[in-house]
Amino acid sequence: MKVVLAPLAGFTDAPFRRLCREGGADKTYTEMVSAAGLAHGSSPTRHLMEMLPDEGPVSCQIFGSKESDVAFASSVVSDAFCEINLNAGCPMTKVTREGAGAKLIDDPEKIYRLLKAMSENTSLPITLKTRIGPNPGRTNAFELLDAAEKAGAKEIIFHARYTSQMHGGEVHLDTLAELVSRASIPVIGNGGVKDFKSALEMAKTGVAAVMVGRAALGDPFIFSAIKEGRKADGAGGALMCEKHLSLLLQFRDILAERFPNDHVSSPDAFASVKMHTHLFRYFSGLPGAAKLRARLNMVRKLSEIYDIIHSYV
Ligand SMILES: Cc1cc2nc3c(=O)[nH]c(=O)nc-3n(C[C@H](O)[C@H](O)[C@H](O)COP(=O)(O)O)c2cc1C
Repeated sequence: MKVVLAPLAGFTDAPFRRLCREGGADKTYTEMVSAAGLAHGSSPTRHLMEMLPDEGPVSCQIFGSKESDVAFASSVVSDAFCEINLNAGCPMTKVTREGAGAKLIDDPEKIYRLLKAMSENTSLPITLKTRIGPNPGRTNAFELLDAAEKAGAKEIIFHARYTSQMHGGEVHLDTLAELVSRASIPVIGNGGVKDFKSALEMAKTGVAAVMVGRAALGDPFIFSAIKEGRKADGAGGALMCEKHLSLLLQFRDILAERFPNDHVSSPDAFASVKMHTHLFRYFSGLPGAAKLRARLNMVRKLSEIYDIIHSYV
């Protein structure tokens, strides 16, 4: 079974992707990158498109609603990536109000035009990540599949939920199975996979790969557990946390070297901001985890992070 890491804004940066790769992920995705941001020359946006060595296949995900923006974005995506993915599934207002993300689900024709504009401006394969429809009253996943296939997309990811469900509720595996049987391109299934059992349920639909999102947070080795059919190890604890931290610092140095004219935070600030969202997850369920959460809000320095880690070793 192939198992890939979902794009997760605020989480799937290069250090976390690299950890997941080591933990068995067959492919990973960047956080969504704003095509408009790239078109307007935003340098911090470019930081999202940097990689660490040995990351394995990484898909660069972009979001946008204008053909000119996604065309430009596609032209600047490095060919170190394995593909460029268009986000047509994000339900967050800051994305949908500009007509991007899940807003595109209402307009398969527009998805077709955006995918075309992308493929005309890169030699990388183009793929699509979307949902099965805006709400249970309108399952237009088959039109979305048609649009992607006609535009020459090489793969399609279906988060098997409706936009109205945001990130919770039933995962519609029956619809996913029907999509797989109709598709002439590989379909990746996503939604609610948290262990071997749920991955197997999804794999039975015939998908080419199963995509794991939130369940990888705090447990980047969940991919090997799923592939080997065993129970996930759960929160990675101090060792995983230390590994993550070391990759973060390595990545900070890469950014500082690649973007000498940009502000790249000090190691203290970079590590504390970035670890903030990840740190407590590595200790979730372990003794003292609740106390750690309280300490987390105070963390501003690398030495404090190391103190926390070492108190758990
Ligand atoms: C915090 C968070 C950030 C996300 N960011 C993205 C994103 O940048 N691009 C995207 O296509 N989906 C994004 N998603 C959706 C996930 O990729 C995935 O479709 C969703 O979490 C369902 O998978 P799961 O049940 O395995 O978590 C995000 C979801 C969450 C919870």
